[in-house]
Amino acid sequence: QRHLLGIKDLSAPDIELLLDWADRAVSISRQSEKKTSTLRGRTQINLFYEASTRTQSSFELAGKRLGADVMNMSVASSSVKKGETLIDTAMTLNAMHPDILIIRHQSAGAAALLAQKVGCAVINAGDGTHEHPTQALLDALTIRRAKGRISGLTVAICGDILHSRVARSNIILLNALGAQVRVVAPSTLLPCGIEQMSVHVFRDMEEGLKDADVVMMLRLQRERMEGSFVPSIREYFRYFGLDAQKLRAAREDALVMHPGPMNRGVEIASEIADGPQSAIQEQVEMGVAVRMAVMEALLDPRRTPEGHNPERSG
Ligand code: CP
Repeated sequence: QRHLLGIKDLSAPDIELLLDWADRAVSISRQSEKKTSTLRGRTQINLFYEASTRTQSSFELAGKRLGADVMNMSVASSSVKKGETLIDTAMTLNAMHPDILIIRHQSAGAAALLAQKVGCAVINAGDGTHEHPTQALLDALTIRRAKGRISGLTVAICGDILHSRVARSNIILLNALGAQVRVVAPSTLLPCGIEQMSVHVFRDMEEGLKDADVVMMLRLQRERMEGSFVPSIREYFRYFGLDAQKLRAAREDALVMHPGPMNRGVEIASEIADGPQSAIQEQVEMGVAVRMAVMEALLDPRRTPEGHNPERSG
């Protein structure tokens, strides 16, 4: 059984192929008739233990555009609230014979654990502070479409690196495709040993953004900071929030990205989030396309990026 648990499991050619596939899905999503029959008869279950706007809705739309039957499991009104464990919930859903299970969970490793227990494909939609592979793929697609390449670009990932699964997946992916990756954060929001992930570390925004091609901002994840250092919002924005003055250090045509949800006035100023360099809405659009591509690749692996399956067409 094939799964997508993390970017670390993908080779550079795997990533490029998924991006080619997703490019085709962008064209499908822009047509007035968006529905295809690639996954007709297949069942997709979305199991989200953590809040989500973009990831859950785009997985749902992606499944529907591929013709799958999509079920959103409402964890808040499920037997999880009566104490049912992740594994028991997963085994219960598995008994209904889904073809693909999408999971978001607050614990690192939850998706990998599930993949060992169920008989269907599993996609990690974010597990704790570990990985968020489809976010990194959609970010890569956004960059590749805007800049024409990823290799050789300088990408500055800024903010709460410590708690960010988005940062981890992006660092692995961008390095695999040949970008120069920088992380920019106060020392308190940098994980120990981050240098071992092949990144250049900066603790000052203007130094970290100097001549960057892409500036990727991250949300300050205050909900994961219980008992540890929580910065003052005013000070954080002053030193690490992206505003027009700090952005001037990057290249004039630098792309500004944010995975969402955004905290305006905390890690990014509204004038930048809504400004001409912002690719934030494109990232959302690419999210549907990438999730279509990943599900097609897992459930119909012989398919080519052009949508042709030599086995099926004989
Ligand atoms: N970027 C992201 O994962 O957003 P959601 O939490 O809204 O899914």
